[in-house]
Amino acid sequence: MLPRTQLSSALKQALPRRSFASSARAFLPRTPATPLTTTPKPARRGVVSTPVVFDPQEPSHAAVREDITIPYPDEKDFHPGDLGHSMEGPDVDVGRHTRRTLASFSMHNKLGNLFARTFAESGSNAIAILDLDPEMAKTAATELVDWFEEHGEAQPGEIEAIGLGCNVANEDEVKNCFKQIVDKFGRVDVLVTAAGIVENFAATDYPADKFRKLMGVNVEGSFYCAREAAKDMMRREEKGSIVLIGSMSGAAVNIPQPQAPYNASKAAVRHMCSSLAVEWATKNIRVNCISPGYMATALTRVILDRDPELRDAWTNLTPMGRLGDPEDLKGAVIYLASEASAFTTGADLRVDGGYTLT
Ligand SMILES: NC(=O)c1ccc[n+]([C@@H]2O[C@H](COP(=O)([O-])OP(=O)(O)OC[C@H]3O[C@@H](n4cnc5c(N)ncnc54)[C@H](O)[C@@H]3O)[C@@H](O)[C@H]2O)c1
Repeated sequence: MLPRTQLSSALKQALPRRSFASSARAFLPRTPATPLTTTPKPARRGVVSTPVVFDPQEPSHAAVREDITIPYPDEKDFHPGDLGHSMEGPDVDVGRHTRRTLASFSMHNKLGNLFARTFAESGSNAIAILDLDPEMAKTAATELVDWFEEHGEAQPGEIEAIGLGCNVANEDEVKNCFKQIVDKFGRVDVLVTAAGIVENFAATDYPADKFRKLMGVNVEGSFYCAREAAKDMMRREEKGSIVLIGSMSGAAVNIPQPQAPYNASKAAVRHMCSSLAVEWATKNIRVNCISPGYMATALTRVILDRDPELRDAWTNLTPMGRLGDPEDLKGAVIYLASEASAFTTGADLRVDGGYTLT
């Protein structure tokens, strides 16, 4: 995590003026419950009729305000054992994030949710969340707006979020969803692809239909979403940013349980990123990849709580000696989505505590 001052400075440069986040659920926060030291300014969060809210000339919230100071607490004040994204209810999540970061949030365990909320936290006011499960997508969108209106000082109607059911492996569904998004918000400025699956089989037992399904979601899904976003950016002849979520497993073979199809799918995402970046470079569409390491999401926490040996193995294999906190990805996604990374395309940003270096 960047020191707050650096993060603030990086964010100030840049953030997308409008944004759209994410295939596959994502989210989060904005206003800290901790009192801020700040000079009051009239809220000005951008043009509501278009997908984003951020005005870099007039930053309106903690993430981009140099004149806001968020006091950091002592480590002893943290909730013991709280990794910042538990499923145990908003009190746990909110408490932790309120004290430590730009604001607080409950992310209900999906990295996609974290990303969507991070965009809201950073000033975006038009967000679409896609997921295979339409109800989860709608709930995620509703909860995002509710949270920012209740805790994040957003005025009613200031942030619009929609949740759409979409099987990203289905080209027609992706096209239809992006049409709905453009009809609703007028444009797509940023795409983050977080939909992804992994299934655990030994290579010799991996069923062919499951292999195809995995490739369909992880590889085809990333491609169809990137293509629809890019087509909208090209149609408008405006620059845009696409962030594909890969995995360190696209560059390293994890032990003790390598997952050949998953690893191959994430390697494909990484190289797709490089190739699209070059193909679309002259269109001012940047394509970058984030490759997380072992992250302590709610999902992996459940697995690791049941298997302390695996937790120890993952921790010991990571030079930094810990699992990643989903919060560790926030700066990375905003950096790549924003003008802070204006000359960066085709990059693979590994957020893995050094795992792939050894
Ligand atoms: N969690 C980690 O430790 C970790 C590490 C490296 C990379 N990643 C990658 O990050 C991304 C998000 O991971 P996560 O931990 O949030 O996973 P998750 O399982 O919590 O969430 C993935 C989401 O994708 C959705 N999804 C599945 N199939 C879909 C489809 N066909 N169409 C649309 N949505 C679909 C699921 O409904 C789910 O909401 C994935 O691509 C994953 O490979 C995760």
